[in-house]
Amino acid sequence: FGCSSSNSSNSSSDNAKKGGNGYPKMTVMFSHVAAENTPKGQAALKFKEVVESKSNGAIQVKVFPSGQLYGDDNEIEALQANNVQIIAPSSAKLSGFEKSFEIFDLPFVFKDSQALYSFEDGEGGKKLLDKLDQYGMIGLGFWPNGFKHITNNKVEIDDPADLKGLKIRTHGGTIINEVYAALGASSAKIAFNETYQALQLGTVDGQENSLVNIQTQRYPEVQKYLTLSGHARSEYILVASKTWWDKLDAKTKELFMEAAKTSAEIGRELEAKLEKEALDQMEKEGKIKIHNLTDGERQKFTDVLQPVFDKWSKEIDPEVLQKAQETSQ
Ligand code: LMR
Repeated sequence: FGCSSSNSSNSSSDNAKKGGNGYPKMTVMFSHVAAENTPKGQAALKFKEVVESKSNGAIQVKVFPSGQLYGDDNEIEALQANNVQIIAPSSAKLSGFEKSFEIFDLPFVFKDSQALYSFEDGEGGKKLLDKLDQYGMIGLGFWPNGFKHITNNKVEIDDPADLKGLKIRTHGGTIINEVYAALGASSAKIAFNETYQALQLGTVDGQENSLVNIQTQRYPEVQKYLTLSGHARSEYILVASKTWWDKLDAKTKELFMEAAKTSAEIGRELEAKLEKEALDQMEKEGKIKIHNLTDGERQKFTDVLQPVFDKWSKEIDPEVLQKAQETSQ
């Protein structure tokens, strides 16, 4: 994938070519694994639009959705090597560096999207993003996806005991594995773009994701039951290659920060709308049986998962956890 000129994006020859509103000419590669008609897909296009229009076309952002360029099994390495300049992985995919990135998988930690956004916009969110610097990455911000819900092929889930013996695909990380272990299920980390096939072949019985991902990945074709549990959150970190970032001038950095902010706002505006549309569409198509947990049923899940919360929240930076909990009070 040799179309990146950004390794030398701020070299003197590039600076000499400054044409668009004083920004250096460069091409930036942005890779992600979700479909285009998702909050992440749309936020990425907004990010591109802001950068390209404000730089008068001097900076081009090439967005590769649906894992076309890198999958979530290799995009982080590609970023650290500066083969791609920007990615937006699920936070938990960064947990190999810092456990705190699994905060979004702590069961029922955020009471709703607004509480989550307040956390992200505050000191807790900043502290989390700042942890990436030491690993050759720059956290530009948070992008929303949605609360996660469970699909499977074996049983209609309305009680924690129903999960016993099921094998569930997750995006990986200790906490989400512990969630399923506490429910008597096993879990397997499988790359997002390989999950449809794993469900189809029966490698796993089920998976968990946002409604938009469930619908745009066509899981209802290969799954019988959907339980609206909202037990954890799928949330993205917008991450830039530090090698690339550190060579940018201040004005260019500011433009990318502005694009990160505007695109996050678009993602937030779209989250509820796209989640609702996905649910409506799945209801209309009728391929998957949908069960919305009652308050009583959800409480049973909260109770069973409380020990997971108590044990694994200790692995999260206490200040970050405290800020998250404050926003949900
Ligand atoms: C997943 O692997 O389930 C998610 O991270 C996919 C996504 O939307 O990036």
